[in-house]
Amino acid sequence: MQMQVIESINEMQDVAAKLRSRRRGKIIALVPTMGHLHKGHLSLVKLAKKKADIIVISLFVNSTQFGINEDFNKYPRSRRRDLELCEEHGVDIVFTPSAKKIYPPDYSTYIKEERLSAGLCGVSRPVLFPGVCTIVIKLLNMVRPDVLILGRKDAQQAAVVKKMVRDLHIPVSVHLGPTIREKSGMAVSSRNIYLNEVQKRDAAIIYQALTKARNMVKEGVKNVDRIKAEVNHILSSVRRIRIIYVDVVEKDTMVQLREIVPRRSLIAVAVWCDEVRLIDNIVV
Ligand code: PAF
Repeated sequence: MQMQVIESINEMQDVAAKLRSRRRGKIIALVPTMGHLHKGHLSLVKLAKKKADIIVISLFVNSTQFGINEDFNKYPRSRRRDLELCEEHGVDIVFTPSAKKIYPPDYSTYIKEERLSAGLCGVSRPVLFPGVCTIVIKLLNMVRPDVLILGRKDAQQAAVVKKMVRDLHIPVSVHLGPTIREKSGMAVSSRNIYLNEVQKRDAAIIYQALTKARNMVKEGVKNVDRIKAEVNHILSSVRRIRIIYVDVVEKDTMVQLREIVPRRSLIAVAVWCDEVRLIDNIVV
């Protein structure tokens, strides 16, 4: 199938209806993105191809998930390169709806998950998860996939979306792809392009701190306070880094833990590296 680029919501819905009626058992996957594709996104496309036969990727910088002082306007956009990458990686349909059609001037409906969204990034970015849930549900309604692919790098986002899917009985199965890392250990993210080389070098401390936490757990440390204190200590050793939070939560419910629960404990970190907000996490 030759790659199709669809901008119109009506056309996407028509194509989705046709795909579903004529698919003869074929599985449809959606990989939602805000574009400016990198190796993290491309690994999600690869995962989608393992789980499904028809791959739809959406490119849409979703204004409602950005706070008023956040980076919506400067968020990187590179449509032509994104389309080339999609073609190279065997995407079937690229859906690039226009902001005006997604959020017309009289738009007034939002989806809010109220429990898993409350902590971690939800504290300092209160519009993030309502914005994400709203756009994801819209995309699901437009593309009607069987499978939804998200990345573990945004662990809280993945947990919130999974909860929304369950709470609202949305007939889609959610699969998570692993965090892709640079050689330095730094998690690949669209926002990394805001960092210069020195900042990137310094931001590598985040993964070093998480790795130390993992090693502590391997050595038998269970006390979450001790682990958090160590991660805070390591992060504080870099002048440029300002800690937003270091937390340890149950990976699916986002409930705070006092003791490590093996293989279910998410150690999540958010920092400012100068003026760039970065997040990362590991499960131990
Ligand atoms: O993770 C992202 O890129 C976005 O939050 C998503 C899921 C595409 C919704 O805009």
